[in-house]
Amino acid sequence: VIPLKELFEDYFEIGAAVTPQQADLGTAHGQTLRKHFSSITAENVMKPDALQRVKGQYTWSSADQLVQFAKDNNMLVRGHCLTWHSQSPDWMFYDENGDLLSRELALAQLEEHITTVVTRYKDDVYAWDVVNEAMFDWDPAGVIEYREDSPWYQMIGETYIDSAFVYARRADPNAKLFYNDYNSIFSWKRNKIYNMVKRLKDNNIPIDGIGLQGHWMVNTSEADIRTTLDLFRSLDVEIQITELDIPVYLSSDEPGATVYNDTFSFRQKMAYTMIFDVLLDYSDIITNVTFWGIGDDHTWLDQPGRKAFPFLLDEELNPKPVYFEVQKLV
Ligand code: XIL
Repeated sequence: VIPLKELFEDYFEIGAAVTPQQADLGTAHGQTLRKHFSSITAENVMKPDALQRVKGQYTWSSADQLVQFAKDNNMLVRGHCLTWHSQSPDWMFYDENGDLLSRELALAQLEEHITTVVTRYKDDVYAWDVVNEAMFDWDPAGVIEYREDSPWYQMIGETYIDSAFVYARRADPNAKLFYNDYNSIFSWKRNKIYNMVKRLKDNNIPIDGIGLQGHWMVNTSEADIRTTLDLFRSLDVEIQITELDIPVYLSSDEPGATVYNDTFSFRQKMAYTMIFDVLLDYSDIITNVTFWGIGDDHTWLDQPGRKAFPFLLDEELNPKPVYFEVQKLV
């Protein structure tokens, strides 16, 4: 079996989202990480609510452990994430009466958080998701641009995005700074992301790249991915696929299964070969492709009675048939 990171070493880094328990060479997950992956992302432990649940009291141990694992095993770390409406502590948004904070206080707290976190991992985290999921998601008419239910937007307006990038750059001039989002390949959302990043670049805000989360489907459209990559290429930014997973179902209506079968295998071969074929075509702008997990045993997509089987490695962390199809592309 050719390790994934060797397969793609001439093209992009290959990453996985991990838990602290997995980042341990005494486990099969740790061994698999070392063998197959050149980059890791914390699935949860670098999020705002994990690092600073109580204002002014940082909890570093799990994040430090992941970073140390990466260093020991010659891997890069993607930092995820600095500014998000979700998995963030209430004190970042609300006062003791439950009212939204003032613009000034919100920005001061954001600056403090970003500066502290980015400074701590200055030489260790090579790319940060500085802002996660700021654009409004479901709006085919394209009228509402920003996610207006985000407390960040409500407290500060869209320029919280600008400020977050400025704070991150100040704390680490060398880290690559990313805007990260999902559903980015749909026309209505990719245009919003394009316009927002264009605005940042026109205003000399330090942004290096766009992260496409890549929570795609077995029937995701190749044209949508290519059109999006062409559009983002015109912004002169780096692209990373930051959270790739492809569940086996055609839609949420399809009945769930707990055993991987030939139909699932066929669908994933079609989808993953299409996707990696496209990503290889754009390898001049794509610098990292990170899966949102390691193997099918652990994924945020699983539901009771409905396993997602979204990766190239199975529940025992062995390569699935789809792995060998992808291998043929290189
Ligand atoms: C998910 C984690 O995988 C889960 O363990 C957690 O309960 C919720 O968050 N977009 C993101 C990621 O940017 O941070 C999310 O991760 C998945 C969707």
